[in-house]
Amino acid sequence: MADSPRRYHITTFGCQMNKADSERMAGILEEMGFQWTELPEQADLVLYNTCTIRDNAEQKVYSYLGRQAKRKHEQPNLTLVVAGCVAQQEGESLLRRVPELDLVMGPQHANRLRDLLEQVFAGNQVVATEEAHIYEDITKPRRDSQVTAWVNVIYGCNERCTYCVVPNVRGVEQSRRPEAIRADLEALGQQGYKEVTLLGQNIDAYGRDLPGATPEGRHLYTLTDLLYFLHDVPGIDRIRFATSHPRYFTERLIRACAELPKLCEHFHIPFQSGDSELLKAMSRGYSRERYLRIIETLRGYMPDASISADAIVGFPGETEQQFENTLSLVEQVGFDLVNTAAYSPRPGTPAALWPNQLSEEVKADRLQRLNHLVNSKAAERSQLFRARGRGADRRSKSQRSDSGDGTNPRQSTHFLHRRYRPSERANGAGENYYSSAL
Ligand code: SAH
Ligand code: SF4
Ligand code: F3S
Repeated sequence: MADSPRRYHITTFGCQMNKADSERMAGILEEMGFQWTELPEQADLVLYNTCTIRDNAEQKVYSYLGRQAKRKHEQPNLTLVVAGCVAQQEGESLLRRVPELDLVMGPQHANRLRDLLEQVFAGNQVVATEEAHIYEDITKPRRDSQVTAWVNVIYGCNERCTYCVVPNVRGVEQSRRPEAIRADLEALGQQGYKEVTLLGQNIDAYGRDLPGATPEGRHLYTLTDLLYFLHDVPGIDRIRFATSHPRYFTERLIRACAELPKLCEHFHIPFQSGDSELLKAMSRGYSRERYLRIIETLRGYMPDASISADAIVGFPGETEQQFENTLSLVEQVGFDLVNTAAYSPRPGTPAALWPNQLSEEVKADRLQRLNHLVNSKAAERSQLFRARGRGADRRSKSQRSDSGDGTNPRQSTHFLHRRYRPSERANGAGENYYSSAL
C-alpha cells in the first residue's frame, strides 16, 4: 500500500437521486481512507455516477470514460468505476465495451461500495446490477452543501410512463421506514443543517409498499403523514420534497403544505404534455384538466407558491395542435421554471418502438419554441415578484412568523431570493432538478 493517501474523484450526472447516491458513496470512500480530489487525472479511483434518461446523457458518459480508460494503460493501479443508471442499463456489456473498467454497479448497490471495492482490490472485475433490497443508509454522506441536505425517502418507481427508462434502472419502489428518515433528519439538525429536501422519483408514492392501513383504508404512512411526522425535528427549519406526480398529488397533501410552517412553498410537478390524448399515450394517468385543477387548488391555498415542472416535446405522434396545447398550458400556469427536453427514444421503453417517431428537426423546432415561451413567462413572473418587492413574501411560514434577527421578515427580499426562486439558485436549493442530466 502506498504511503500517501489514495485519492478519489466522482463525477455525477443526472438527477438529485444520483447526487444523493454520490454523496453516500463519497462518504464510504472517505471511511476507507480515500481523499477527495477535484481533478480526475490526479485520482487513484475515478467513479462516474451516470444517467441514461436521454441518449445525449448516456453518450456524454462514454466520452468521459474513454479518457480515463486510456489513462489506465499508463497507470494500471487506477481503479475505474461506473455506477448509476447507465451501469444498470448496460451491465456486463459495459465491460465488453470498456474492458479497462474495474467495477460496474447499479444504483441499488450504492451503499455496498465498500464490499464491491474489496472484491476489486482482491483482483476481480465486478458487475453488481442484480435487483437488490437497498441497504439502510448507514453511511455518513460527504455532503456538498453545508445548508441543505438531500434525504432519500423512497427509491425506485412503479410507474410505467411509456418514454421513461427510470423503472428499468432504479427498480421497484422501496420506501424507507419513517423512523429511519426521522433519525437522518435529527442527525442533520444536530450537525447544523437548516434545510432538507426529501427525495423520490415519485415521492407521492411514499409508503404504499410499507405495511399497515388506517381504518379508512389509506396506507398507514403516506407522504402527508411523513411530513407531519418529520415536522418537529429540532434544528431543521425548512423542508422540501421532489418529485411530485400529478396522478397522486392530493388536496390532503396540499393542505398539509399550507398548514405546516416548515414546508417550503415550492413544488416540482412535471406535466410532460399539455394534451390529454398525448398524456394517455405517455401512460401518465391524468389529463390536462386534472393538472390544471391541481394548480388551481394549490394556488387557492398558497397564492404565491413557486411551481416548477418538466415537459417533453416531440413525443411519438405529437401533432402541431398537441404541441400547442403544451404551449397554452405553460402560458396558463405561469411556472417559475420548466425543464424541457426533446423526446429521446430509450432502450427497453415501449414508445421507442412505435412507428410514429418525429424527425429531429421537428423536435428541435418545438423545443426552441417552448423554451422561448418558458423563459419569457419565467421572466414575467420574476418581474412581477420584484415589482411587488417587499410585499411579496414567499418564505416558509415559520420564517414569516419569526425572522430570528429582529427585523420585519416582510422586508427581507434576501429570503425571497434565497429560499424560493428556483431560477435564482443558492446553496443548491431549488436548483434545476434535471439540469445536469444532459
Ligand atoms: N419522476 C419524474 C421524472 C423523472 S425523469 C416524473 O415522473 O415526472 C426526469 C425528466 O426527464 C422527466 O420528467 C421527463 O421530462 C424527462 N424524460 C424522461 N424520459 C425522457 C425521454 N425518453 N426523453 C426525453 N425526456 C425524458
Ligand atoms: Fe419515469 Fe417519473 Fe414516470 Fe417513474 S413516474 S416512469 S420516473 S417519468
Ligand atoms: Fe437515473 Fe436520475 Fe438519470 S434516475 S436515468 S440519474 S435522471
